[in-house]
Amino acid sequence: MHDFHDKVAVITGGASGFGKAFAVLGASLGMRLVLADIDQGALDAVVEELQATGATVIGKRTDVSRSTDVQALADTAVGAFGQVDLLFNNAGVAPGGLVWERSEQDWNWALGVNLHGVIHGVRIFTPLMLAAAAKDPSYRGHIVNTASVAGLTTAPTLGPYCVTKHAVVALSESLYHDLALVSEQVHCSVLCPGFVATGISRSDRNLPSEDATATEPSRAQRAAMAMLDQGIAAGTLSADDVARTTFDGIRDLRFYLLPHPGSIQAVRQRFDEILDLRNPTGPFAENSPIRETLTASLRGE
Ligand SMILES: NC(=O)c1ccc[n+]([C@@H]2O[C@H](COP(=O)([O-])OP(=O)(O)OC[C@H]3O[C@@H](n4cnc5c(N)ncnc54)[C@H](O)[C@@H]3O)[C@@H](O)[C@H]2O)c1
Repeated sequence: MHDFHDKVAVITGGASGFGKAFAVLGASLGMRLVLADIDQGALDAVVEELQATGATVIGKRTDVSRSTDVQALADTAVGAFGQVDLLFNNAGVAPGGLVWERSEQDWNWALGVNLHGVIHGVRIFTPLMLAAAAKDPSYRGHIVNTASVAGLTTAPTLGPYCVTKHAVVALSESLYHDLALVSEQVHCSVLCPGFVATGISRSDRNLPSEDATATEPSRAQRAAMAMLDQGIAAGTLSADDVARTTFDGIRDLRFYLLPHPGSIQAVRQRFDEILDLRNPTGPFAENSPIRETLTASLRGE
């Protein structure tokens, strides 16, 4: 897709962070937007902010973990604009803690939003794009699934997150292979950023209320949050930078989008360890400030 003007983008998690940055950039390129988010207040604020700049944008409250909500999102987008050209399966949450420590509900929450949310998006929107392509040879569709560098490596205290993001990478690669069998007009990419300042380290704000545990976060959960905060504070790229890299990747039909050049080394290290049959060292080397923060907060310091 080279020309974004007048094209229709659906963006999940559009009320904050990367989703909002995709929306701002898309609007500046003249796209028509459908923003979806579980947080109605934040969604309304972003829709109003963009409409004030003259953008054509609507908001649809959506819980991406529910297929009926994602179907209603697709119906809304097609009802308003006739078709969808660009889909960002982007909404996500990052529960932290030791891998055995999060409850069954927390695992279901992470899998529901990060994995099933993307599965619903792919299942419901891909046939719409293929139908649009069959009708119009000039139609171009593109799906971007937001995974993470945590989908290509693993890290301590982020078990459920890493599990879901590895699955999103596998799902996206499968989607790539399957699309290549049936169409030259619909493409996909997987976005794998490193740490960026967004609302992600506070994603427990979106924990469904029936799942909210009465207890305070455990020491390991607080350690994971401190680690995310520290990584984010040390991050060199903004959400706007990631949005620009993503749109460039869509233009160039690139599948793997890794906006942080430094993360390539972490990915290479993991694959070298697998191929050399060495035990995993993980992305935070001994003595790295992030590892020190993690171990100190696990000790309760
Ligand atoms: N920020 C980072 O460092 C980073 C790095 C790699 C990948 N990511 C991924 O980027 C994506 C966007 O996250 P972000 O960093 O912008 O965080 P963010 O918290 O700023 O934005 C996430 C948005 O998703 C929404 N959301 C949460 N649960 C939802 C649900 N069930 N249905 C619909 N919307 C829901 C939130 O309300 C929020 O607006 C996520 O998939 C995240 O895992 C983030």
